[in-house]
Amino acid sequence: MWSPSFVAALLLLLTPAAHTLKTGDWKTCSQSGFCRRGRALSARAQDAADVWKSPYSVIPSSVAVASNLASFTAAVKSSIYPEINFELDVRVHKDGVVRVRMDEVGGLRKRYDEAASWALVQEPEISRAIQWSVGKQEIKAKYGEKKDVEVTVEYNPLKVTLSRNGKEEVVLNGRGLLHMEHFRTKASGDDKPVEGSEGDAQAVMQTNPAAWFEGDTEDAWWEETFSSWTDSKPKGPESLSIDINFPRHGHVYGIPQHATSLSLPTTTGPSATFTDPYRLYNADVFEYLASSSMSLYGSIPLMHAHSAESTVAVFNAVGSETWIDIGRSNDRSTETHWVSESGILDVFILPGPTPEEVFAQYARLTGTPALPAHWSLAYHQCRWNYVSSDDVRGVQKRFDEEDIPVDVFWLDIEYAEEHKYFIWDKKTFPDPVEMTNDVDALERKMVVIIDPHLKRTSSYPVYQKASELAVLVKPKSGEGEYEGWCWSGSSSWIDGFNPASWEFWKGLFKTKSIDGQWSWTESTDAVHIWNDMNEPSVFNGPEITMPKDNVHYGGWEHRDVHNINGMLFTNMTYQAVAARSDPPKRPFVLTRSFYAGSQRFGAMWTGDNLGTWEHMTVNLKMALANGIGGMTFGGSDVGGFFGNPEPEMLVRWYAIGIFSPFFRAHAHIDTKRREPYLLDEPYKSILRDTIRLRYAMLPMWYTAFREATVTGIPILRPQYVVFPKDEAGFAIDDQFYVGASGLLVKPVTEKGATEASIYLAEDQVYYDYFAHYAHQGSVKGKYVTVPAALHQIPLLVRGGSIIPTRERHRRSSPLMKYDPFTLRVALDKVGSARGELYLDDGETYSHQDGEIVWREFTAETEKKSKVLRVSSKDLALEKPQEAVEGNALAHFDPANAYAKKIAHVRVEKIVLVGLGKQPKAVRVEGGKELDWDYAPGVSSGKEGQAGVLVVKDPAVTVVSDWTLVVEL
Ligand SMILES: *[C@@H]1O[C@H](CO)[C@@H](O)[C@H](O)[C@H]1NC(C)=O
Repeated sequence: MWSPSFVAALLLLLTPAAHTLKTGDWKTCSQSGFCRRGRALSARAQDAADVWKSPYSVIPSSVAVASNLASFTAAVKSSIYPEINFELDVRVHKDGVVRVRMDEVGGLRKRYDEAASWALVQEPEISRAIQWSVGKQEIKAKYGEKKDVEVTVEYNPLKVTLSRNGKEEVVLNGRGLLHMEHFRTKASGDDKPVEGSEGDAQAVMQTNPAAWFEGDTEDAWWEETFSSWTDSKPKGPESLSIDINFPRHGHVYGIPQHATSLSLPTTTGPSATFTDPYRLYNADVFEYLASSSMSLYGSIPLMHAHSAESTVAVFNAVGSETWIDIGRSNDRSTETHWVSESGILDVFILPGPTPEEVFAQYARLTGTPALPAHWSLAYHQCRWNYVSSDDVRGVQKRFDEEDIPVDVFWLDIEYAEEHKYFIWDKKTFPDPVEMTNDVDALERKMVVIIDPHLKRTSSYPVYQKASELAVLVKPKSGEGEYEGWCWSGSSSWIDGFNPASWEFWKGLFKTKSIDGQWSWTESTDAVHIWNDMNEPSVFNGPEITMPKDNVHYGGWEHRDVHNINGMLFTNMTYQAVAARSDPPKRPFVLTRSFYAGSQRFGAMWTGDNLGTWEHMTVNLKMALANGIGGMTFGGSDVGGFFGNPEPEMLVRWYAIGIFSPFFRAHAHIDTKRREPYLLDEPYKSILRDTIRLRYAMLPMWYTAFREATVTGIPILRPQYVVFPKDEAGFAIDDQFYVGASGLLVKPVTEKGATEASIYLAEDQVYYDYFAHYAHQGSVKGKYVTVPAALHQIPLLVRGGSIIPTRERHRRSSPLMKYDPFTLRVALDKVGSARGELYLDDGETYSHQDGEIVWREFTAETEKKSKVLRVSSKDLALEKPQEAVEGNALAHFDPANAYAKKIAHVRVEKIVLVGLGKQPKAVRVEGGKELDWDYAPGVSSGKEGQAGVLVVKDPAVTVVSDWTLVVEL
């Protein structure tokens, strides 16, 4: 099946981006002019800390408070450039979030000010209850239920502080590093060193403050060269620097995506882990380092700061390249410094004070993840490439022969003739619709890649039309089409900032041609989309991306919007796939590049990782950090993209995959095939069991997604999110909880492991999910050892949880939709438990009209009357406003169409773990005695093998209210 010419063509295409790690392809801070300038300012300010004062101040007479709104504006001046005008705009939102905006006004040009409007889901509501009190030296507002939160804007120098109970928690410009480089004209003639720039800092500060503040060399103001590329910088210097300190928080998290620990290591100070600041500049960094502050594919400028006292966060809504230094003078406070290449100051301070509240505050700003199609939570099988439609059919056949469930087959770039996306290569895919239908026959789906680079050839209708409509990114001249090199050879890029591109893109996905317009008629509703290379990746561009002086719609430079660019492309695809069917079905779109708000448009993955233990380890930490930034629907390539993982590593990676919200195996074209059925025993059987466990747990996953779409709390929850007061857990990032399910996972990421050590933060019982061994935690926190041989996954269930599963084996997840449920009840120390189950049709938007089933299960032990009751009740009826995303349900009808459809679906088994005593009788209230099995063991308060009661076929349905009574 590998024709020599096909292989040769592939090799040719690979040449531009030889896949070896070259860190030198990307800038360090010292190779980036504005980062260098920002760090130099910080160094000077530190040297002169006792005398240095920020030149920026508020003009007190200019403070204008809006009537009946917690918002004011004020003029700001810099003593260094008194002729330049800035305007400050500070607002307190209804939920206590403080937004601080500052822009240059009446300047030479306009700064890019639209980053927030792309990130925000809507314009936030400003509080009408909170009042500013205007003083001579400051303006402040007190709020919060206990009036314990105070935001203060000091005038001279300008400093913004959020305090709680009189203690500063977030401080902007406390170190005086605020600097908005105003637009200027390039001086003609020789650039002389600025007078008075010699001598010690203090003297320079007095004689020539501008030279002291900005440096005396106009460092990379007007042009900048990196490797063989020159950035023409037509607008000159316009960078933005701001220090943001957290005086009471010793841990910071977030600002994904970087390959590092969840609790971010420092980048400044004598014990700094990284020498470079964290960089946010979406980049196609193939074979990235497993520990680095380098940029990766996505950028979310959101940072949580955490201590046992509180969690706060800042969201710095900027779309240009940004570097972030993190320092710590002691382990109880954190100092950060953010330097961006362009844009306005637009910082949101999220007051918390709990992680949940921070997530809610961030979700109100940028939205929650969209509720995914149910099938997209199942197993995805990908490879670069399944080379023909018969190859796809063959892979499907092998999965079925081996009884391994799978829902989605993926096609990488080779399906497309000359990498002209949408256009099937008919030599290898002669029958794409029939192929899709063969997959669809088992209710499976296809995901096909569509990238933003369009091959520049008149024989490609997509490019042709885009060119005609002028919706392609322009070169620095602002005229014509930017041309670069990517998979398709000479290419141009669709400009997602141009609204005309949205309609055009939507039209392409129609499966039936409308008005003779070209559209993807050779596809069906079962085809969903993968957006790769959308940083964008440009093989012959600076840092393998687009030149910064390229021009987007509205005349903005690529520099201004680089980090937002990938999100807009994903959004376009998401909207297009949704609009393709009527009534619309939930699209699945996978993106590599992302920005704040991307969670609204689908899933992400961690890009081109390596099949190594180090990458497996760091990908887990990255998943947690991505979740902090809202991208909870994520995962990494199972098995690693590059390399040929040994079977042991592959088995461990699948165990991580099944506990990732997005679960996809993928591999590079040079790797050996490694579909699970290809492994020898015992590996193959272990993989089958592992993947089946994911399928069994789909009800739990879908329920967890419902919660994430309503609250914004990530599905993979690190220790600090679940136990915000337990300091011992703040740096733990190798274990996590799955939603509110009570599952605690500690994936094995080491070769040859036979046991694992799991941290328990509380005085609670945790059961081994498989073996039902009861581990007792401790108030002081405690590590417990669990078995972790190759076929074992360290997986505990927190006492007090009820987990719904579906345990019949099917070939794909939609085939399970009427399968009965099992409830796994893990009793806590006092013999109670709680859990939820959320269901809907899994593919349309009818859930937003209330076609859902949302149940609550509870278990309660009554010591006196010696009974244990397990009950099911309608949670949607109780909390209709919290049931679905957007709080849309005003009323809920328990007899809705979907509930009726699954009215016959039973609970076929209830497993009670932690019952120390054989029951006398078990029955459903009002019914006859039931069959059960009891395996003796300890009760929930004791360490040891737990007693387990299995109630077989209680003859109850999932949509009805019932109570199971266990007489003890
Ligand atoms: C997403 O697309 C919709 C519809 O085309 C548009 O209104 C919205 O502004 C877009 N948002 C982003 C972040 O691209």
